[in-house]
Amino acid sequence: MIVAIGSDHTGVYYKYLIKNFLIKNGYKIIDFGFHNKNGKQVDYPDFIHPTVKHVNDGIATFGIVICGTGNGAAMIANKYKKIRAALVWNKEITCLARKHNDANVISLPARFIKKNDLLEIIKIFFKTDFDEGRHRKRIEKIPIN
Ligand code: RB5
Repeated sequence: MIVAIGSDHTGVYYKYLIKNFLIKNGYKIIDFGFHNKNGKQVDYPDFIHPTVKHVNDGIATFGIVICGTGNGAAMIANKYKKIRAALVWNKEITCLARKHNDANVISLPARFIKKNDLLEIIKIFFKTDFDEGRHRKRIEKIPIN
C-alpha cells in the first residue's frame, strides 16, 4: 500500500518516526518533505498540497499530514474533492475517523501529540476499517459541487 506523507518544520521529527515505522511494516512511503531538521521554518501549504494531491489522484491510498496544530494541514486536505481528512490527536478519535468518516487522510497536530501516543495512533489508523452501514450515506452527503 502506498502512503503519502508530508509536514512543515514542526512535523519533521514525527514524520520520520512514522515513515520508519511504516516502512518496517511493509508500506511504500512517498515523502513530500519538509526534510530539514535544523530549525528552518517553512510554509505548510508548500508540503501539504503535493502530499494530499497524490491521494486525491489515486496514486497513494492514504495520506498523513502534519503541522503544529493540524488545522492548517486539515484545511488544505479537505479542499480536495476525494479527500476526507480528519484532525486526530488520540487513538479513540482516530478509530472513529476511520469507522464513521472513512478518513483517507489524517492530520496530526505535532505540538499536541505525545511521542508515546504517536505510533499507536498510526497503528489504529491503518488497522481500522470503515463501518459502512448508516455511515456510508452520511459520507456521501459531504461533497459539494
Ligand atoms: C507553524 O508555526 C504553524 O503555524 C503551522 O505548523 C500550523 O500549526 C498551521 O496550521
